Amino acid sequence: YEIYLHGMTGAVPRLPTDLTRLEELAERRLGPGPVGYVAGSAGTGSTADANRAALHRHRIVPRMLREVDARDLSVEVCGRALPAPLALAPVGVLSIMHPDAEPGAARAAAAQGVPYILSSASSTPMEEVAEAMGDGERWFQLYWAKDREVTRSFLQRAKAAGYTALFVTLDTPLLAWRPRDLDQAYLPFLHGVGTANYFTDPAFRAGLAKPVHEDPNAAVMHFLGMFADPAKTWPDLAFLRENWDGPIVLKGILHPQDALRAAEAGMDGVVVSNHGGRQVAGSVAAADALPRVVEAAADRLTVLFDSGIRTGDDIFKALALGAKSVLVGRPYAYGLGLDGQAGVEHVIRCLLAELDLTLALSGHSRPDTLTADDLIKESV
Ligand code: FNR
Repeated sequence: YEIYLHGMTGAVPRLPTDLTRLEELAERRLGPGPVGYVAGSAGTGSTADANRAALHRHRIVPRMLREVDARDLSVEVCGRALPAPLALAPVGVLSIMHPDAEPGAARAAAAQGVPYILSSASSTPMEEVAEAMGDGERWFQLYWAKDREVTRSFLQRAKAAGYTALFVTLDTPLLAWRPRDLDQAYLPFLHGVGTANYFTDPAFRAGLAKPVHEDPNAAVMHFLGMFADPAKTWPDLAFLRENWDGPIVLKGILHPQDALRAAEAGMDGVVVSNHGGRQVAGSVAAADALPRVVEAAADRLTVLFDSGIRTGDDIFKALALGAKSVLVGRPYAYGLGLDGQAGVEHVIRCLLAELDLTLALSGHSRPDTLTADDLIKESV
């Protein structure tokens, strides 16, 4: 109601409620470096465009007269009851966007009751972010380092800091060809304390010839050398399973066979994602990959979704296609850049309010009653 009451009081929200307008606003206010980092996609941006187009092609078929006065957005994800089917995706180096950085995003998520997935490439050490989260749901995203000791150290630190679920990102064994970053010579990991999780890590520091502050360039090179590892294969997951006793979710799954392999490896869930179109140019749109992965996962895996979510109706569509919850990336990064923690809260509130209204107006009171039958897919 608050959004409509603004009309009575004349109080205009500080940021637009159409979240697709945040990028343009950020471009004007924050400059090309930070916005290029967030907006940037692989190649010509065809995958990011395809993500939006695929969601757009699915259209909701509303139902009438279905008693939708009492609504409940809660869902269960990997055994945890969550108030809504939304989480903040891991986004690295948020100090580029705003001094509130990861602690600001974490506080916003906790205040709005949605989980925050902290990136391995956080500009703030994971222990500090955990504190900022208070009672909020703490999830940790792992870029699976080449060095086992560093990975083990990350897992131990994350556990000690109260992170419950581990999201292992598989689609970034190398950084993709990203023209905006290349053309601007803007390498986010070089940004200040861009890799604080690594630079504060005892196992990482043990591999450096000189302390970070004495030779930061060598530290960055060391980081790039171990950041991820294109030589890994499915059997390597056993190491993570042995070293993490909570839920493990594989992020970046698009092929149904990979979902089957995830289940066989004892994983708890997958995120159907193409990294927001930042990794494989020309990749299948995430929403088009979702139904086949959901089918392969059956009851064995929790399936989450990201890449292209900008509105409440996008969330509705992803849930109707079988996702249990969605993650959102760029919109909250822009919200943070434009208005710090308050900007992230604005983004979460807009998405949840619009989802709630879309559910009600389409004849649903709960996310878990949605099925593919509530959508039709337009032919191109
Ligand atoms: C990301 N993403 C990402 N993923 C991850 O697992 N670890 C990370 O550190 C990052 N960092 C990152 C930085 C920036 C600037 C962006 C935009 C994205 C990917 C992210 O988690 C998510 O998959 C996408 O952002 C989802 O797509 P949308 O919502 O941005 O369209």
